[in-house]
Amino acid sequence: MIINPVSSMKGELTVPGDKSISHRSIMLGSIAEGTSRIHGFLTGADCISTMSCFRAMGVEILQDGTEVTVHGAGLHGLKAPADILDCGNSGTTTRILSGLLAGQGFDTVLTGDESIRRRPMKRIMEPLTLMGADISSREGNGCAPLVIKGSALHGIRYSSPVASAQVKSCILFAGLYAEGETSVTEPTLSRNHTELMLQGFGADISSEGTTASLRPGRKLYAREIEIPGDISSAAYFLGAGLIVPDSSLLVKNVGINPTRAGLLEVLEAMGADLSLENRRTATGEPVADIRVRTSLLHGTEIGGALIPRLIDELPLIAVLASRAEGQTVIKDAAELKVKESDRILLVTNGLKAMGADITATEDGMIIKGPAKLHGAPIESAKDHRIAMSFAVAALAAEGDTDIKDAECVRISYPGFYETLKSLCG
Ligand code: S3P
Repeated sequence: MIINPVSSMKGELTVPGDKSISHRSIMLGSIAEGTSRIHGFLTGADCISTMSCFRAMGVEILQDGTEVTVHGAGLHGLKAPADILDCGNSGTTTRILSGLLAGQGFDTVLTGDESIRRRPMKRIMEPLTLMGADISSREGNGCAPLVIKGSALHGIRYSSPVASAQVKSCILFAGLYAEGETSVTEPTLSRNHTELMLQGFGADISSEGTTASLRPGRKLYAREIEIPGDISSAAYFLGAGLIVPDSSLLVKNVGINPTRAGLLEVLEAMGADLSLENRRTATGEPVADIRVRTSLLHGTEIGGALIPRLIDELPLIAVLASRAEGQTVIKDAAELKVKESDRILLVTNGLKAMGADITATEDGMIIKGPAKLHGAPIESAKDHRIAMSFAVAALAAEGDTDIKDAECVRISYPGFYETLKSLCG
């Protein structure tokens, strides 16, 4: 995909539904009693993978575009799938589903694409094993395919070495099937959609600081869910609106849950002209419309507890930092190396190729700006967030940028390039 620079971006848009909430709405709807109606479901490949896995376990799920109806099978109503469950490119599906499956009365095997089969699964295998699960890596390399033999589980108090919502959610979903209370403490708080949604479905869950505790035994009840736009998808348009000259964009209906909205704080710290309008709540999640205008950005320092609150936005932030005045330091973000790709490596290589001054570190990147970016061939390694971040860089660069495997954006944002084009002057 060749992307050319543009002179201006103007207009309004809505972005597709939140990926994390879309996954969880299928998972919880499937094990609830009754019929859940989901509005604004993300039809990206990752969430379709989750839907296919539950259909394979006998759950009736009807989809009409972004409207989805899940006929819940109840906590103990899932059926043994006839085949291996394919999680595609989705870490969220693989990790949370593993927790949910560990305590079932049947065995399963989970796998996915090349990227998934390289991503670390020990982080869920260890706590699940402590709960009494029988889960193993088929190749013995700590990665998928994962072989899960349904077992009797017991609650644990787990102190997680990583701030990861996938790990936390995996353990909490397993906790639904365990004897006694399960609690997870994280080093810093990761996104809390699972906690909010479990509560909304009627589970006995409480949170204090960075600890979430779940007591099993209650049935879950179906509900109506309105999914807000994904802030991780909105990020690309906020970024483009800031670095493309003469731009003004309004991204409507964006989820701004504080455990996800670290990007907004960073943009403000970088001097962005950004405002939140029309604040409201959708199914327990805060939502707003976000307006941005072209801004002279400056460098900032990003680390610590902020990192899990903007982990998926860091490639885009690095792009913005290359156009900002002064130095930006991103640290405490070694997790970037174990995402859909090694995002430290790919962002550094791509931005260097476009003329930026960027250095990879063990746990982040140091970027000195502002650089005059020029077009270059960009390796996305089929990582949707790399492709979209460099599409934004391309709009503010000189000459053509050629993004390889650009269609991978369908993982989280079907129609991304079309929407981008519609806003370019
Ligand atoms: C997600 C959690 C994050 C994030 C991913 C979605 C989730 O991963 O990067 O895109 O829905 O729970 P980690 O839990 O591995 O940090």
